[in-house]
Amino acid sequence: MKWINLSALFLASIIAVPAQADSLADSAANPATNPEADRQALRNLYQQKFPNIGLADFKDGVYAIDAKMREQWLELEDFPPYEIAIDEGEELYNTPFANGKSYADCFGDDPGIKHNYPLFDQARGGVVTLEIAINECREENGEAALPWLVGELAQISAYMAYNSRGKNFDIKIDSPEAVAAYADGKQFYYTRRGQMNFECGSCHQQKVGQMLRAERTSPSLGHATQWPVYRGRWQYVGNIQKRFQECNIQVRAVPFEAQSEEYRNLEYFLTYMSNGMELNGPGSRR
Ligand code: HEC
Repeated sequence: MKWINLSALFLASIIAVPAQADSLADSAANPATNPEADRQALRNLYQQKFPNIGLADFKDGVYAIDAKMREQWLELEDFPPYEIAIDEGEELYNTPFANGKSYADCFGDDPGIKHNYPLFDQARGGVVTLEIAINECREENGEAALPWLVGELAQISAYMAYNSRGKNFDIKIDSPEAVAAYADGKQFYYTRRGQMNFECGSCHQQKVGQMLRAERTSPSLGHATQWPVYRGRWQYVGNIQKRFQECNIQVRAVPFEAQSEEYRNLEYFLTYMSNGMELNGPGSRR
């Protein structure tokens, strides 16, 4: 854990912050959870921290707040490393299942539906991510489910994200059960965990924009917009729950299973925070 030694100063400064001074944590335990008020408060938080950056620009993640990194990123976008994944995803998406049906029979003619996910399914009483919907479509048609985090599922999701580009996130929370799932995800976000005893907001809200070794921590507003992502470090596209695992591991906490209830609710909360923002996935990251 060399990273942690090198970042000792940074980490110490987080620990020194009075508990959750600068986050929305206090309302996490409030039974009168109000997702829309939370979303507004989060926007206000970043508007105050970065008064010169337009709220819509946070869709670009860390590249919204670091001009030099933005420049490098825009250069990379001339020949984006995720392009192959989109092509492969398109081919997978359009290859009929053994029974002759296809994804279009599940999702309709337009594969650009990623901005509606995750959604809360009232009948089953839980959050459904796009990855779950894709795998369920496969299983309903007699095909095996694909591994969650990388590979073909991430490629299909990259193709669907590409077709959703320019659409605004439209996550709905419209029942008490959906609010409860959201509140659970929010609680997760603001719960300190791991040997380092950090919450997600420690790095992404309280200390947003600070350097952590070679990385600058990005705002959580816009954290959902660009998935799946091609990461130089991974050398392939992966989805957001892979990043959740990595951020858990960074603070020496035990990561949860992909598509566990914990991560589904976390993704529901975090995506709702990006509601109304433009989807611009798939993305590329260092
Ligand atoms: C110790 C600091 C730290 C903590 C705590 C932390 N992260 Fe991160 N996170 C990072 C760093 C560093 C990156 C990579 C640079 C960046 O922020 O984009 C990152 C990246 C991310 C990204 C990708 C952003 C993008 O645009 O590519 C997401 C999403 C994310 N974190 C979510 C979380 C969640 C959810 C939690 C809580 C479970 C969490 N993080 C906790 C440091 C942290």
